[in-house]
Amino acid sequence: MSKEKIVFFCKNCGNEHSKWHGQCKYCKEWNSLKEMKVSPLKIKSQTEIGKYFKKENIPLKMNEIITDNEIRLIVKDDEWNRVLGGGLVPGSVCLISGEPGIGKSTLLLQICMKFDKKILYVSGEESQKQIKVRSNRIGKEAGEIFILSETETENVYEQIRKIKPEIVIIDSIQTLHSKMVDGSPGSVIQIRECSGELIKYAKSTGSSVILIGHLTKDGNIAGPKVLEHMVDVVLSFEGDNNHAYRILRAKKNRFGSTSEIGIYEMLSTGLREVKNPNEIFLTINKSKMSGHAIGVSMEGMRPLTLEVQALVSSAVYGTPQRSTTGYNSKRLNMLLAVLEKRAAIQLSNKDVFLNITGGIKSEDPSLDLAIVSAILSSYHDTPLNEKICFASEIGLSGELRPVVKLDQRISEAEKLGYEVFVTSNFRKENIKKKRIKILELEKIGSLITNLFK
Ligand code: TYD
Ligand code: MG
Repeated sequence: MSKEKIVFFCKNCGNEHSKWHGQCKYCKEWNSLKEMKVSPLKIKSQTEIGKYFKKENIPLKMNEIITDNEIRLIVKDDEWNRVLGGGLVPGSVCLISGEPGIGKSTLLLQICMKFDKKILYVSGEESQKQIKVRSNRIGKEAGEIFILSETETENVYEQIRKIKPEIVIIDSIQTLHSKMVDGSPGSVIQIRECSGELIKYAKSTGSSVILIGHLTKDGNIAGPKVLEHMVDVVLSFEGDNNHAYRILRAKKNRFGSTSEIGIYEMLSTGLREVKNPNEIFLTINKSKMSGHAIGVSMEGMRPLTLEVQALVSSAVYGTPQRSTTGYNSKRLNMLLAVLEKRAAIQLSNKDVFLNITGGIKSEDPSLDLAIVSAILSSYHDTPLNEKICFASEIGLSGELRPVVKLDQRISEAEKLGYEVFVTSNFRKENIKKKRIKILELEKIGSLITNLFK
């Protein structure tokens, strides 16, 4: 009888160590090694997992390799297609992650129902009846969908071999469990084995696999970091549970750009594609209120007008509070320091609250100017003209810096009925003649003289 062996797995990256260390030598994470007993018998049987989807592997000459790059599985959902860079690629593996309850299962069930294909939807979380009830709310399916409520991978592989689906959906990878390896469902070793086998299946048959992944408390995909390296596409589905809007974002895409986003709205009948996001994020008629400004940001290839709200009030406690929703708080602190130093606006004894409305998060620095304008508007208690919008990054010396795709932003602002577009006077691209007035400024100081004096 062979003895059980003790190994240590890193919770963060999934790498194996023979001894315990305080720090993982691969990903350098502290305190992440977990002890696990593995029997040599089971280790041996791991290699047998490969028997299901085994294929002879021979090298080919580069010019003999046939590429299927152009083939895309297109579905009647433009947001989904766009984020994937033009549709799902056959044989690809896609991982989609998001907070609990954000709508991952709904999104994928809906995508399934729009595909005119043979699909296997494996759920380890819901029963077949629950999924059917949910699908009734969403609508009618176009293709053939098989629902399997199962957590054991061996049974899943068995069904995959029988049904031969073109797309397999696993909801979620953390619920799958393989008999071949130790560890409870969701443990690093289980996730690594189960997904490894599914990836092998996708690559050898040309079927696509979509995995749903849970997030850990700190917002990372639960399980080994290597999982993100192994798959072709990593998508995140984000949003605020208190708002109906959801954003699908590509974090990694081997077949397209990662700069695209898809916007959805959660309704009682499932997720609705938001084709024209600009009209939704803006609230109507706020002309009489101070602290509002409109920023024209770029999310992927699309201009998105976002409403920025700021509130500047006298600090009650010694240390003033600074709080942001939807924008980087460090960047807000930087902007406040620039205002203080370069424009002599006394903010050190003020609380500053910043909010990007609609539950949207943005990292586009071209919102800086809108944020500064909203702060100044609240500080002076002077409402801004509702027909003004802003797009410019702000540098440490208070200068307005140029933004990319300026022409596209200006066109969008004009289309939405804005009359003045405030931006940096230093620009790289030529702008076609527009009806909208373009106000080009050099420094924050000139913004103050133009708008608040
Ligand atoms: P779900 O897809 O189960 O989230 P996840 O898989 O990410 O955990 O969706 C969760 C929420 O979506 C649920 O709380 C209810 C809501 N919902 C709707 O508002 N409308 C719908 O049509 C459906 C199906 C769900
Ligand atoms: Mg779910």
